[in-house]
Amino acid sequence: MALLKQLQPYFPSIHHTVVEPCEEFVSHYKLHSILENVQYDWQLKTFQQYMQDQEYTSNSRKFDFISAVNSLYYTGNLKETIRFLIDRLTESGYLLVIVCSEKGAGYRIIANFPELHPAFKPSYFISSKTVSEAIAEMGVTAKVNSLRTNVDFSGVFDENDADGDAILDLFTGIMDYRRTAPEALVERVLKFLRQESTPDSESGEINFMDHPVCVEWDTILVEKSYKQYLTT
Ligand SMILES: C[S@@+](CC[C@H](N)C(=O)[O-])C[C@H]1O[C@@H](n2cnc3c(N)ncnc32)[C@H](O)[C@@H]1O
Repeated sequence: MALLKQLQPYFPSIHHTVVEPCEEFVSHYKLHSILENVQYDWQLKTFQQYMQDQEYTSNSRKFDFISAVNSLYYTGNLKETIRFLIDRLTESGYLLVIVCSEKGAGYRIIANFPELHPAFKPSYFISSKTVSEAIAEMGVTAKVNSLRTNVDFSGVFDENDADGDAILDLFTGIMDYRRTAPEALVERVLKFLRQESTPDSESGEINFMDHPVCVEWDTILVEKSYKQYLTT
């Protein structure tokens, strides 16, 4: 909704297509984020299904602005997805992608512990670097900016801390991680996170956290211009 509000001054009427497979999230969105002068097109499906449906639509819609915020991890073939998204931009359209940076703990924990998600293939590990490379391969330039922040992981090291449990679940991608994962793996992940946390004296920064861990996402902005766009 915040993004839509930013766009409203430039576009008096907006057509907004939402691709989201989770019914609960869509209901929540409908309940809290409906704006005036916005026409909504709810696509309750995965992005893969949406792409497939569009293939069979002769008159595909083009978009002035497309955002994919922390969602490209789930959309299957990255290069195919990126090509599809850029193809769907109008000539002066923008694509905004937000994904984790390979420098932050979010990516590093998954990359260091493939046993957390044994079904993942190495190609699944999508980061700002892999997305930027896929965009560059299309002959398109992108601007990358880092959103870097420290999160206090102190609660993670206290097994009675509910916030710590929630952080662990978020960063491992596993519900109730502390209680459901094998004990030895929990210990190894905690050791890794302890090493990741940088006390003030090492980082040179003043922060008031016992266990600050760097999390980093990158915003990748593509401004489509047919001059730089290779159609190969
Ligand atoms: C980490 S959340 C990000 C949500 C939102 N963009 C945000 O930043 O708050 C990932 C979202 O991707 C959705 N998702 C999962 N698999 C997907 C798929 N195959 N195609 C499209 N969206 C998917 C999830 O339901 C979830 O809403």
